Amino acid sequence: MFGFWKTWKALEARGIMGINRRNADYVLKYNKRSLYPIVDDKIITKERAIAAGIHVPELYGVISTEKEIDKLDEIIGGRSDFVIKPAQGAGGDGILVIADRFEGRYRTVSGKIISHEEIEHQISSILTGLYSLGGHRDRALIEYRVVPDQIFKSISYEGVPDIRIIVLMGYPVMAMLRLPTRQSGGKANLHQGAIGVGVDLATGLTLRGTWLNNIITKHPDTTNAVDGVQLPNWDGFMKLAAGCYELCGLGYIGVDMVLDQEKGPLILELNARPGLNIQIANDCGLTLRTHAVEARLEELKTAGVTETPEERVKFAQEMFGHIPAVEG
Ligand SMILES: Nc1ncnc2c1ncn2[C@@H]1O[C@H](COP(=O)(O)OP(=O)(O)O)[C@@H](O)[C@H]1O
Ligand SMILES: [Mg+2]
Repeated sequence: MFGFWKTWKALEARGIMGINRRNADYVLKYNKRSLYPIVDDKIITKERAIAAGIHVPELYGVISTEKEIDKLDEIIGGRSDFVIKPAQGAGGDGILVIADRFEGRYRTVSGKIISHEEIEHQISSILTGLYSLGGHRDRALIEYRVVPDQIFKSISYEGVPDIRIIVLMGYPVMAMLRLPTRQSGGKANLHQGAIGVGVDLATGLTLRGTWLNNIITKHPDTTNAVDGVQLPNWDGFMKLAAGCYELCGLGYIGVDMVLDQEKGPLILELNARPGLNIQIANDCGLTLRTHAVEARLEELKTAGVTETPEERVKFAQEMFGHIPAVEG
């Protein structure tokens, strides 16, 4: 019963970051308020990413008013799979992942059959602000459905796993792979019941997992081990994440990426208040690493230089790898 609390206390000694420190010393300090819309609205994030040459799931269309719901058929066109989501949603709420058509209806990624009217109703709920931060009126976006790379087949259940990297001033500090479960309905959000697995920044090898605040080693649905898996194209993900600092200008972000079977690494979204559970999955506190980056920034400031995304990735991999480099 107290297992989670004990873990948390043990981590505290190793520089765990709590919510107050995160907000005061990182979110407030490094994230300019005026830049929030870039990350809090997924349509704006997409536009920015495209302008910067960063790949994202293709946008099929946007619905902003009740009247525009009539355009849904036209936006979907002949496609049989697509995703509908609130532009200002969070935590996986309000997202509809359609995997197929079935007898004049649609099949969601978790196998539920729904009608066109139900989709329209969902869009209407999105527009009223049911899923948006602060309950403001929102827009619905319709986009390409990501088909996960085969590598995830044995360790994921339906849906798309995502890779989260926390980035401070362009320096990756910690990473986590999130795996959907039967419970999470095809979404990779931890509070929907997905698994969080730590990732070694140096190599892209997965570490241990956490599920509903317990430490686990196997996926509950597939029973395959979640640790020791080599994520493909790891340096590419690290570079993509590091480059998001230039993309949005926010200094403390969580970058969420996916690996599409055909399109490769894509940015799904950016988060200005990334969660803290990533520390459990990595068995490591964030402050040890953020302090190291802050010390580095001081050093560079004195020398009057800045680093490129490649240099920042190299620094992070040398400093924060779990597996020590070959000793000489
Ligand atoms: N285009 C997509 N294709 C397939 N699955 C998606 C897509 N967009 C989102 N998802 C699933 O839903 C989860 C949450 O999506 P995301 O865009 O990060 O919104 P939120 O802000 O609610 O977390 C993702 O981690 C992924 O599992
Ligand atoms: Mg997300």
